[in-house]
Amino acid sequence: MTLRKKLIAGNWKMNKTPSDGVALVTELVAAIGKQTEVDVVVCPPLTALESVGRALEGSILKLGAQNMHFEASGAFTGEVSAPMLRALFATHVILGHSERRALFGENDAFINQKVIAALKNQLRPILCVGETLAEREAGSTLKVVQTQLEAGLDGVGKEQAPGVIIAYEPVWAIGTGKVATSDQAQEVHAFIRGLLTKLFGEAVAQKVRILYGGSMKPANAPELLGQKDIDGGLIGGASLEARSFVDLVKAAAEAK
Ligand code: 13P
Repeated sequence: MTLRKKLIAGNWKMNKTPSDGVALVTELVAAIGKQTEVDVVVCPPLTALESVGRALEGSILKLGAQNMHFEASGAFTGEVSAPMLRALFATHVILGHSERRALFGENDAFINQKVIAALKNQLRPILCVGETLAEREAGSTLKVVQTQLEAGLDGVGKEQAPGVIIAYEPVWAIGTGKVATSDQAQEVHAFIRGLLTKLFGEAVAQKVRILYGGSMKPANAPELLGQKDIDGGLIGGASLEARSFVDLVKAAAEAK
């Protein structure tokens, strides 16, 4: 019997205007807005955060952002802060996504400052870690994940750790249709759980949810979500359409 409720989070990336976002969330609310078996988070682009937040009011759906700056305010053109996200009733924030690391030069130390700032502002960070194809082929998957995880969580206290969500997203599986096998994913998830145990102790590590991300679809979700240490999914492509996202939430509800 696991202590962890499954979580399905949709990362819309740079997709959907506010009206497109409201239309999607309206469908989601109708289909899964009252179920309580699975936690559900949607992460629209910033421009749609406010209107999507209004559209999911009164439902179980929660609102997340895809990034933020660690400072509360100041001369940081183009950035937004944790208090600004909180003011729009966001509860979660994706941090350290591989696209931010690869395309926008974010490193572990920078991401760590964001994790600390999110927790300080009662936002739940969804900290993303994962190896590239070259790193997997070189046999360094676990080393890469360990470095990203330990650096990303540096300075996080034991009492704060249950508020953190980890997403294992092998870079080679993102948007490629190449999903990790359930064995490949479970191996890394178990490794992450072990690292969390070393950092925070067994009781806390058993509470932290570790999501899988990378071409998760309704067809492959049951097998992935059936693994012992896979506590949900961070969904890109399949979160952009109501039917597939709803089916993923249903798969999570049925996973044992
Ligand atoms: P896809 O589901 O499109 O592969 O994206 C995964 C992802 O990057 C979620 O953050």
